[in-house]
Amino acid sequence: MLNSAGSSGFAPGVELHVVVMAAGKGTRMKSAVPKVLHRLAGRALLDHVLDTAAGLKPLQCIVVTGHGAAEVEASLGAREDGRTTTRAVRQEPQLGTGHAVQQALPHLPDDGVVLVLSGDVPLIEADTLASLIAPASRLGRASAGEADAVQSEGALVLLTMDLPNPAGYGRIVRSSDGQQVQAIIEHKDATEAQRAITEVYSGILAAPSAALKTWLAALTNDNAQGEYYLTDVVRLAVASGHPVLAHRLADVVQVAGVNTPAQLAELERAWQQRHAQSLMAQGVRLADPARLDVRGTLRCGQDVEIDVNCVFEGDVVLGDGVRVGAHCVLKNVHVAAGAAIHPFTHIEGGSAPVQVGAGATVGPFARLRPGTVLGAQVHIGNFVEVKNSTLAAGAKANHLAYLGDATVGERVNYGAGSITANYDGANKHRTVIEDDVHVGSNCVLVAPITVGAGGTVGAGSTLTKSTAPGALTVARGKAMSVTGYKRPSKA
Ligand code: UD1
Ligand code: CA
Repeated sequence: MLNSAGSSGFAPGVELHVVVMAAGKGTRMKSAVPKVLHRLAGRALLDHVLDTAAGLKPLQCIVVTGHGAAEVEASLGAREDGRTTTRAVRQEPQLGTGHAVQQALPHLPDDGVVLVLSGDVPLIEADTLASLIAPASRLGRASAGEADAVQSEGALVLLTMDLPNPAGYGRIVRSSDGQQVQAIIEHKDATEAQRAITEVYSGILAAPSAALKTWLAALTNDNAQGEYYLTDVVRLAVASGHPVLAHRLADVVQVAGVNTPAQLAELERAWQQRHAQSLMAQGVRLADPARLDVRGTLRCGQDVEIDVNCVFEGDVVLGDGVRVGAHCVLKNVHVAAGAAIHPFTHIEGGSAPVQVGAGATVGPFARLRPGTVLGAQVHIGNFVEVKNSTLAAGAKANHLAYLGDATVGERVNYGAGSITANYDGANKHRTVIEDDVHVGSNCVLVAPITVGAGGTVGAGSTLTKSTAPGALTVARGKAMSVTGYKRPSKA
């Protein structure tokens, strides 16, 4: 169900070339960001499409860029994976979807199958695409009811769907018996009778490369928009007696396009709902599947419980029995078995995930920043911030504290209001708090400094020098009392 890169339906033996159209302006997004770089579930629309395409193991992915080309091309980064070559071709100016695919022609050989995808149709699934590729290939098998001709000659295969409100889409015109696809007519070119057709083209097709190249070369722009329509290849195929098939998909989410912020939000919800269902199917207990946001990968062990309104970003792993309270934001973090993350906690790991040890408790209202590693049974309480620090098993910082660039030993108790002064205005320095140290409330540990094992630091101390193991260290102004003191009174 998810937009996985699974290859279960992948058509082996087919030389596949994928063309992704991503040059359009996306005017209706009203954004400076190119449309295909808008994010759904934390990933650019184009990345969804390319990741799904990668599951089909194509020889190449050709991305047609135009509007925001430099940004879109930069986003392709290092997509090389040994088998698939990913390249961008520019379409300037943008003269329509047919013209877009024409830009890929120099890279398309005569052999194999071309699969055309839209960069703004992000939730298409690999299995669906595989079922288009097979009949487009000479190797492909026609499924029951499809023309026998398909087995000798790859068909032009269109992905279509039925929409109660088909306005704006290209309509699938069939022969009077409803069997043969004859043409796709764009909304703006359609007659009233054609506009009543509810079967529409999704923007996705597969075709034998050689035939597609011939049709593309014959496109004209004689239509309402003065564009070269990719959809006109259907008419050309029919005219030359080539088999044309329509694969009708009931799952509209897979073929829904993103043209407006509202459509993007709608698809985001659809993706999140599917993700929530799949987590629950694995046994994860979600307080409310409608109030979960995963913007990356969330892997869960057994008996994981997640309360409402949590956001998971990047790479998050929750071990067996982990509980996450309401309103937490967890990014790049691995939480070991039995740990509890209490409400309103914000955890943000970097390229190395934050580690929360087995049975640890974090929050409510805690903040763990990059480089935090918490051992087993560590307690981090409310309004405690930890950055680039390691806390060994059983260490506790329960209230209102800051630990930055610190190495904290086992069973250390770090008092309320205490902080590491780790920054001298130019450089960061480390604080080492050895095993079994008790740091009282409201202490300042001025780094670099080591508090020796088993030591005690009196409340309110500001330490600038290391202390010996086992020592009690107090560094605060001596109390002075004046007995019988009278406060000034108003004159
Ligand atoms: C297209 C189809 C329509 C179909 C609909 C499904 C055509 C002529 N029409 O219409 O039948 O129902 O998709 O969503 O193909 N693009 C380029 N270069 C261009 C123009 C577009 O790369 O010159 C890209 C866009 O970035 C987008 C995709 O092609 O990713 C579709 O373009 P769009 O303008 O959205 O086509 P629709 O009008 O939606
Ligand atoms: Ca569109």
